[in-house]
Amino acid sequence: MRMSTEIESLWFSPFRQIGEIQVIHVDLTPHEAREQYALEWLDKEELARWQRYLPDRPRREFALCRAVLRYSLCRRLGCENKQLSIVPATHGKPHALINGQPAPTSFNVSHSGYHGLIAFAQGQQRLGVDVEARSRRRDFDGIAEMVFGPNEREEIASASGLAKARLFFRFWTLKEALVKAFGTGLSIDLTAFEIPQDIRHGAERSIFQFPGQDRTLWELRDLSTNGYAAAIATEVPHA
Ligand SMILES: CC(C)(COP(=O)(O)OP(=O)(O)OC[C@H]1O[C@@H](n2cnc3c(N)ncnc32)[C@H](O)[C@@H]1OP(=O)(O)O)[C@@H](O)C(=O)NCCC(=O)NCCS
Repeated sequence: MRMSTEIESLWFSPFRQIGEIQVIHVDLTPHEAREQYALEWLDKEELARWQRYLPDRPRREFALCRAVLRYSLCRRLGCENKQLSIVPATHGKPHALINGQPAPTSFNVSHSGYHGLIAFAQGQQRLGVDVEARSRRRDFDGIAEMVFGPNEREEIASASGLAKARLFFRFWTLKEALVKAFGTGLSIDLTAFEIPQDIRHGAERSIFQFPGQDRTLWELRDLSTNGYAAAIATEVPHA
């Protein structure tokens, strides 16, 4: 299957390398030719899913990110696209199979507005990534009641204007990266745990442990840029 250098460089690019974890950025600005080309990479189930999305934005986000995911997995794993299937686990977290067998790589995808991020790790290391285009017109305090713990809510409530929006999306992406790494997504109570204080207050990285869960440690990193909020959570391998 072809993929010209032109399409590759316009469409996605390296974003961050953290040890062996690679994060790429996918450009999701509307682009008819790229979207058509992306469809060539999707399998039958994915095309059917693409057709079920009626609005343009989720259609585009899904097609472009899924095509880049497939292309990148083929390159990492040295397989052909037709050997690859991407299947959901219990709460919907996708993983890759090659000829029906688990692929020796893990990944996670996030898309928001014109930005997609895809993170890859070696082996079965669990990870979650989240990106959110920031907007200022939202009831941040109202939403915070539903998704944040008491300290997180208080810090958001005492900020205003742009600082409030930044804080909200910082906390939100960090929290979502964690539940995506964990694999449950939003099916768990987000108010039942808080993002560590150091990273809430500006540190770039921190270590987290889910209260009441096993002893797995998670490394959290803020990946935000001026254009969007983003975060990644990765399982810390046992020593
Ligand atoms: C996963 C979830 C957190 C996504 O949040 P979002 O901000 O809307 O979307 P994002 O763009 O950040 O992430 C979407 C991507 O996360 C991945 N994903 C889906 N479910 C996931 C999960 N449980 N854990 C981690 N990643 C997941 C997918 O790759 C998806 O993109 P794709 O479908 O285009 O490949 C949210 O939809 C959720 O909690 N879903 C689980 C609901 C559930 O329990 N479903 C059970 C029935 S399947």
